[in-house]
Amino acid sequence: MMGKIEAFIFDLDGVITDTAEYHYLAWKGLAEEIGITFTKEDNEQLKGISRMESLELILKLGGREKDFSQEEKEQLAAKKNEHYVKLIETITPADILPGIEPLLEEIKKHGLKLGLASVSKNAFAVMESLGLKEEFDVIVDAAKIQKGKPDPEIFLTAAKLLNVEASACIGVEDAAAGVDSIKGAGMFAVGVGSEETLHKADVVYTGTELLSYDGILKEFTER
Ligand code: BG6
Ligand code: MG
Repeated sequence: MMGKIEAFIFDLDGVITDTAEYHYLAWKGLAEEIGITFTKEDNEQLKGISRMESLELILKLGGREKDFSQEEKEQLAAKKNEHYVKLIETITPADILPGIEPLLEEIKKHGLKLGLASVSKNAFAVMESLGLKEEFDVIVDAAKIQKGKPDPEIFLTAAKLLNVEASACIGVEDAAAGVDSIKGAGMFAVGVGSEETLHKADVVYTGTELLSYDGILKEFTER
């Protein structure tokens, strides 16, 4: 049996709210504009990955990785972001995914700390729109790290700022790269999504509505 749990560290896009879908739509729009077919399946590889790395992956998929200068790539990434920012304009607290608010309440009720680990440069804006910015003890976004997921840096930074040991943290992710980041940090990983994509997680739930404090703690203590 493991030690005591002191903190939960959440990914944002696709875990707390369905912005993973908006990232997908914005990338799909851009990909099609430059003649690249981009499917939901391709998108799985992009989840949790930074903006520029995502663009590079899409260009590679279409065999166009050598067709654009650095400046052009930056313009393409900026265009995707403009579209994404439009899509997230209407986000309100009603867009918090089912099961998340009760889980956050339980975490607080038990006196545990709450962290956010998102490589998105839009993380603060989204958290603000959701009305959750003040609920979290620490928000680690792209500005606070050197290496994105799957590197463990982002989850380790969150633990450090929360002043807790990594082994006393539970990370929650919808992306394979995110699960790798959590496991690399030496934390217990909760995956939300398909078992196939997230098989490296310690436990996988198919949707956020299935997340529960007691359920997760039970899984944690049984390992
Ligand atoms: C992650 C998303 O949270 O943030 C990725 O899972 C996204 O899909 C990444 O590319 C970067 O987001 P942004 O808002 O900085 O373009
Ligand atoms: Mg995510």
